[in-house]
Amino acid sequence: MSRLRFPGLIDAHVHLRDPGATHKEDWSSGTAAALAGGFTCVLAMPNTQPPLTDNTSLQTTLATAAANAHCDYGVYAGGTELNAAAVAALAPHTAGLKLYLNETYGQLRIEDLGALHAHMQAWPATRPLLCHAEGHNVPAAILLAMLAKRSVHICHVSRAAEIAVIRAAKARGLAVTCEVTPHHLLLTQADAAALSPGRAEVRPALNNAADQAALWEAVQSGVVDCIATDHAPHLPAEKDGPQPPPGFPGLETALALLLSAPTPRRLSQAQLVALLHTNPARIFGLPAQPDTWVEVDPQQKWEVRGADFLSRSKWSPFEGWQLTGRVHSVCLRGQLAFADGQLLAKPGSGRLAALPPV
Ligand code: DOR
Ligand code: ZN
Ligand code: ZN
Repeated sequence: MSRLRFPGLIDAHVHLRDPGATHKEDWSSGTAAALAGGFTCVLAMPNTQPPLTDNTSLQTTLATAAANAHCDYGVYAGGTELNAAAVAALAPHTAGLKLYLNETYGQLRIEDLGALHAHMQAWPATRPLLCHAEGHNVPAAILLAMLAKRSVHICHVSRAAEIAVIRAAKARGLAVTCEVTPHHLLLTQADAAALSPGRAEVRPALNNAADQAALWEAVQSGVVDCIATDHAPHLPAEKDGPQPPPGFPGLETALALLLSAPTPRRLSQAQLVALLHTNPARIFGLPAQPDTWVEVDPQQKWEVRGADFLSRSKWSPFEGWQLTGRVHSVCLRGQLAFADGQLLAKPGSGRLAALPPV
């Protein structure tokens, strides 16, 4: 059967571990994994070590990315309790500001309401502001954004009550966008029980079947703007150790998992293009990538095996799943970047996405 052609997919939520924990992922391995999964642009989260919260850490990350990235990229700045005024100066060079309101991996959590309010007011309204917000923090983030007359993007929404609040806010005309992850769409606590406790650790946690159904309904009805992987690479030994860090790798399975979802959950190609390309491009103001496409073999059957990933995080919560549909080749700006399982793009061939002026 003939191949399906997609535009270059955009993942607005990935964690690379460079600098600080490159044994988990670096700019080369993470962007190679992106291409293998059909993503030609990734936006990288700031919870590195040190975190990307000032101009020094921004310049370090941009230099590393420029030398090593295989696909195009942008980087987010991270908010701390103290940097609301200073971090706003980084807006022209970053894809957005990330605020962590709930438990996460790393040091970037903000608990102080005054600091949150200050970030919402100080960050330019023309650049996205993203929140890891769960539970009551979802309406808190939306209200603070409204008071600042700005938009807010809620990351990895995972519960029915949260999506209900976002739906209501959108119905009111508030400038709220959101994403969901493949793992919250496809796994619940029941699946977590089949994984070892450490391997099931992820934030937001896996939830119940009613939450999962609400997420699918919100995807189908257009309340969800994007699917983003929240690719959070950790090593299998770390996940199996005494203090398992939260997070799942996701770049190399996301598209195939969605293509393999059984009806009635199967999304059309047009829906996938909206969720994985058009909507993230619009929300994050990303430039078009000319001569860029992804060809998928829709009939290819394969089994998820973390050991085969280009990511350094060689495991998956979907280990052993039998999928139908796989990325065959990726062309990035006129160059074949990935084909037949082989990475062809050179390190440093990825470009910093040119963003609109602040
Ligand atoms: O599970 C998670 N992993 N949730 C987060 O918020 C951070 C992420 C990571 O960086 O590993
Ligand atoms: Zn998060
Ligand atoms: Zn994340």
